[in-house]
Amino acid sequence: MKCWAIAEKSTHWIKYPRQGRFAERIMIRRCALFVAVLAVIVGLYLMPSPIDPEPFIFEGPPPALEGPLKVNNRLQQGRRLFSGQLKGPESFTADEEGNVYTGTVDGKLWRIHQDQLHFITQMGQNIPECGTSTDYEPVCGRPHGLRLDSEGQLIVADSYLGLFRVNPQSGEKTLLLSSKEGADGIPFGFLNGLEISGNGTVFFTDSSSRWGRRHVRYEVIETNHLGRLLTYDPETGLVKTLLDSLYMPNGIAFSPEEDFLLMAETSIGRILRYWLKGPKAGTKEVLLNNMPGYPDNIRASDRGTFLVGITTIRFPGRLLPPFLDLIGPYPVIKRFMTKVVPLSWYSVLLPRYGLVLELGPNGEVLDSLHDPNGSLTWAVSDVFQHGGRVYLGNTELPFLPVLEEAR
Ligand SMILES: *[C@@H]1O[C@H](CO)[C@@H](O)[C@H](O)[C@H]1NC(C)=O
Ligand SMILES: *[C@@H]1O[C@H](CO)[C@@H](O)[C@H](O)[C@H]1NC(C)=O
Repeated sequence: MKCWAIAEKSTHWIKYPRQGRFAERIMIRRCALFVAVLAVIVGLYLMPSPIDPEPFIFEGPPPALEGPLKVNNRLQQGRRLFSGQLKGPESFTADEEGNVYTGTVDGKLWRIHQDQLHFITQMGQNIPECGTSTDYEPVCGRPHGLRLDSEGQLIVADSYLGLFRVNPQSGEKTLLLSSKEGADGIPFGFLNGLEISGNGTVFFTDSSSRWGRRHVRYEVIETNHLGRLLTYDPETGLVKTLLDSLYMPNGIAFSPEEDFLLMAETSIGRILRYWLKGPKAGTKEVLLNNMPGYPDNIRASDRGTFLVGITTIRFPGRLLPPFLDLIGPYPVIKRFMTKVVPLSWYSVLLPRYGLVLELGPNGEVLDSLHDPNGSLTWAVSDVFQHGGRVYLGNTELPFLPVLEEAR
């Protein structure tokens, strides 16, 4: 009411500015501020949120850092290779000649031989913009899981484009299954982990049918369970869904006997076991819950255990409790936050802490490697043992960290 009166008066004051008394001018300013704040609140309320979140509550606070989780600096004992040359080597595989293969965030596939880097191919279009901004990822491609098949050909899950077969020498590539085609009428949104079974069947995960890799933060905040575990038969070209409604399924690893596989559900910090053989074949169970961080890839180690790269830790920093634990239960807050905070800002909130877990076949934590200040690496995506070394993957960092193993 008062605001209207002032507005009327103000037209008078604009004509005769000297008549406006000081106090009334302040009132006008307050009114203007009030109207502006109101407009912003209404605007934010009406503005659609980019995400459609669900509540998620962890079973409890993250486990204490004691016993096998005790803080150490064993992950700091390595060195960085290819600084500035290799950006975000996400996953690895190797052949019998000792070549190591990896794919980077600019959509390129590489072979590493005796610490020399060789370009194999570009998964999508090779344009100069590749690697400069996540906007170009759907065009340039983004290789994630990769393995060699029995004929020595690379099978690559490109996050955006689909499953490919790539000749590791010539770089010639064949699209086996496009993401547009997907499975059961649902396109793939975010291809991620990949393993090839002894009989040639390709097991792979689609982390989300809604959000692509460059929107992974939305995927995690939303906790939407739109992921799938699938198989592709290269003989018949048939694709099959083994599990759906998964929470951002990511890395997968077969047990040494291939009687089960482990699968990370990244967005809720959980590891599942899916049985392939025996009386429980085709069923899943939760193996490890309420983890100390968000798991990425899982690899079988050379001693019958599993190595898990932790992409972000969950335990408290010095100042704040873990951010996603705090907002997890409140869709309203998640919706509001994603309206006002640009996507690129979330990485600032992430702690620079490197963590690798070693698990037994029943999900028991046996050991852990820590880099508490990220002096070697953080955001670990893959932990690949090969030729007396451990190669540590990540999604964005511009180097390849390796640990030399004591022999
Ligand atoms: C191939 O192996 C996988 C994993 O052990 C199994 O689930 C699948 O049924 C096998 N496929 C055939 C055709 O035998
Ligand atoms: C990280 O911690 C190590 C000790 O474990 C120390 O030597 C190093 O200087 C620290 N680096 C940074 C960047 O703080």
